[in-house]
Amino acid sequence: MKYTQLNNGVLMPLVGIGTWNLRNEECIETVSKAIQLGYRLIDTAQMYGNEKEVGLGILKSRIDRQELFVTTKIYRISNSYEKAKKAIDISLKNLQLDYIDLLLLHEPYVQGPQMYKALEEAYKEGKIKAIGISNYDEKWYQNFIKECSIIPAINQVEAHINFQKWELQEILEQHGTLMQAWSPLAQGIGNIFKNSTLVFIGKKYNKSPAQIALRFLVQRGIAVIPKSSKESRLMENIDIFDFKLTHEDIETIKQLDKNRTLFSWTESF
Ligand SMILES: NC(=O)c1ccc[n+]([C@@H]2O[C@H](COP(=O)([O-])OP(=O)(O)OC[C@H]3O[C@@H](n4cnc5c(N)ncnc54)[C@H](OP(=O)(O)O)[C@@H]3O)[C@@H](O)[C@H]2O)c1
Repeated sequence: MKYTQLNNGVLMPLVGIGTWNLRNEECIETVSKAIQLGYRLIDTAQMYGNEKEVGLGILKSRIDRQELFVTTKIYRISNSYEKAKKAIDISLKNLQLDYIDLLLLHEPYVQGPQMYKALEEAYKEGKIKAIGISNYDEKWYQNFIKECSIIPAINQVEAHINFQKWELQEILEQHGTLMQAWSPLAQGIGNIFKNSTLVFIGKKYNKSPAQIALRFLVQRGIAVIPKSSKESRLMENIDIFDFKLTHEDIETIKQLDKNRTLFSWTESF
């Protein structure tokens, strides 16, 4: 696994497994299997309702805790400083962990700054190793960093070949926040696994369209958290570090950018 360094020096795997939509036994098994296959970052959230199963999957894998990087997120039901403080302890309990590697505000909220204050305190207490935000566009981000005392280590946002977010990435980098892509495979929408550009480029390197789509992000320095519950795809999605896209490949993939979200729920921010 390859790592990237966050703005506080913490190392974070560039590829992790997303767990949205994984439930019950399937979640436990998939998390445990992914760790066995070499995944070292697990992405969950209180909103997904599967933190307990993620915790059980981690226990089942018997991995040394220090080798693992666990991300979770708190959301709008914890929309005050006090509620956010409690939410952090709930996540620790659900996950059966004594610290969380990365804790994010799931979406931009008007109460985000006070929620984030609880994260900053828990970070200083050592309950969380890094803190950040998710789904913040340029405007929300610029306003947010004026109000916080610790610059978010991560902004986890929708990013994939159809929504490439070059400008946001540049602004985040200027301030020391790393972009992490959710739905890096666009959930398969638009037949991305058969996309002719990705198929063509993939043939040069003997890689699948999914691997080209992920490599495109990772090579730009964007961390990715693709979800799969299938062993062969889990393996495929981390096998992206033994080749390099050329400048020409990148320019060709840039042409696929439609520069808009695939998910209408994100338009309400
Ligand atoms: N912060 C946020 O607001 C937010 C929002 C959405 C998602 N997320 C996080 O981001 C993670 C990833 O996003 P996502 O789950 O929406 O979508 P995704 O990772 O882009 O795509 C997942 C879909 O692609 C399929 N797939 C995975 N690898 C494949 C491969 N190599 N070849 C063909 N199909 C493949 C999976 O099916 P199989 O399982 O059948 O393989 C699944 O249907 C989530 O699980 C979640 O942790 C965060």
